Amino acid sequence: MSKLIIQGGHKLEGELSIHGAKNSALPILAATLMCKGESVIHNCPVLSDVDASIKILEYLGCKIKRDGSTISVDSSNIINSDIPENLMNEMRSSIIFLGSLISQCNKTSLSFPGGCELGPRPIDLHLSAFKKMGVSIIEEHGFLNCSRKAKLKGSKIALSFPSVGATENILLAAVTAKGNTIISNAAREPEIVDLAAFLIKCGAKIRGAGHDNIYIEGVNSLTPCEHRVIPDRIATSTFMSSAAITGGDIIIKDTFPNHLWTIFPIFEEVGCKLTLNKNSLRIKGNNQLKGASTIRTMPYPGFPTDLQAPIMSMCTIAKGTTIFVENIFESRYKHVCELNRLGAKICVEGKVAIVYGVDGLSGATVRCTDLRGGASLVVAGLVAEGDTEILDIKHIDRGYECIEDKLNSIGANIKRIETSEDIIIE
Ligand code: UD1
Repeated sequence: MSKLIIQGGHKLEGELSIHGAKNSALPILAATLMCKGESVIHNCPVLSDVDASIKILEYLGCKIKRDGSTISVDSSNIINSDIPENLMNEMRSSIIFLGSLISQCNKTSLSFPGGCELGPRPIDLHLSAFKKMGVSIIEEHGFLNCSRKAKLKGSKIALSFPSVGATENILLAAVTAKGNTIISNAAREPEIVDLAAFLIKCGAKIRGAGHDNIYIEGVNSLTPCEHRVIPDRIATSTFMSSAAITGGDIIIKDTFPNHLWTIFPIFEEVGCKLTLNKNSLRIKGNNQLKGASTIRTMPYPGFPTDLQAPIMSMCTIAKGTTIFVENIFESRYKHVCELNRLGAKICVEGKVAIVYGVDGLSGATVRCTDLRGGASLVVAGLVAEGDTEILDIKHIDRGYECIEDKLNSIGANIKRIETSEDIIIE
């Protein structure tokens, strides 16, 4: 168990670099399973979710070499076709292995992913697509037992919602299926484009990734390749919120601002000045932020649900009121109670959160409820008067590489302390 102690009140100034995108690295690692031979993936972030993916690949028989942010996966010798429950439970996104496993093996079995901190996480869109492609799926005793009698068959799949995970899973299953697949109403996130770029390098035939319709012509097999994961746009924006809330001035390097163009107007509206380059950006805060117009989470290129919490923190001390509407996940306001413990004034009514700007926050002990909610507490702690103690930071470690080192390098004062026992907040 570890906790962070943040001494608030330090302006952030300086430069920092962004690690590779977790949400790209995870499906790409799952895809390496399909490339008989050694794939080399660069810019893989050092995160607990990546560790969990590696454990799954090793269990399946892959040989892994890791050198900093470069991971080599040799999938020449797959020995298992199931994923044990304990490994599935380490990471909710492990369902992403279903597409690559069922394309490689006639049979596979994995435990049904349960709900998570964000509420129910159904996988009906994944399963109905696999069924259409010829997979028989029996759900029993909490497991998904999947089998196919012949090669997967290419199909026309129309998603009722542009689910990121379903689009990725179908893409993985379709690249070596027999015939053509069309995914309509596909998710358009940059991480989908990155996965498609990796698969195309491996010999897959894919057109349209990043658009509503993705066209896939099945090929016989894939060959391994070398690939560099795109920068993490959610980490970039979290650090932007951190600079903004402290009235700081930072340069963020190794990032792709063109993946974030729809969120920049929010930073400008609250009073920040942005300078954008191809692979870097500068954000200059303002001593008095202003509230923003209503922020509605949407599928890409709309405002990302993953940024709702960190940007909400930024708005807690903005003059005026900011309204958030969470349209993607049911229970994504768990951080609100914790932000209110720090002195924020936020009311939640269903999918709407109203943030009434306050003059300042004050340090307290708070607990991470989920990954991005945890990050929002760090952002708030940077300006809270006195010390903010953040518990349960394993959530933050799933998505941010040593967040305290990054922030300390630009002027924050954050300590990570190992604790031996659970701390209960009364
Ligand atoms: C991915 C991201 C997560 C991000 C989310 C939305 C990864 C590893 N995680 O999660 O960080 O917050 O996209 O941008 O990339 N849904 C269904 N049925 C399904 C699948 C999804 O109803 O079969 C619903 C979900 O409950 C949710 C919405 O669709 O309400 C979006 O989910 P989805 O886009 O699939 O998110 P994930 O891929 O799980």
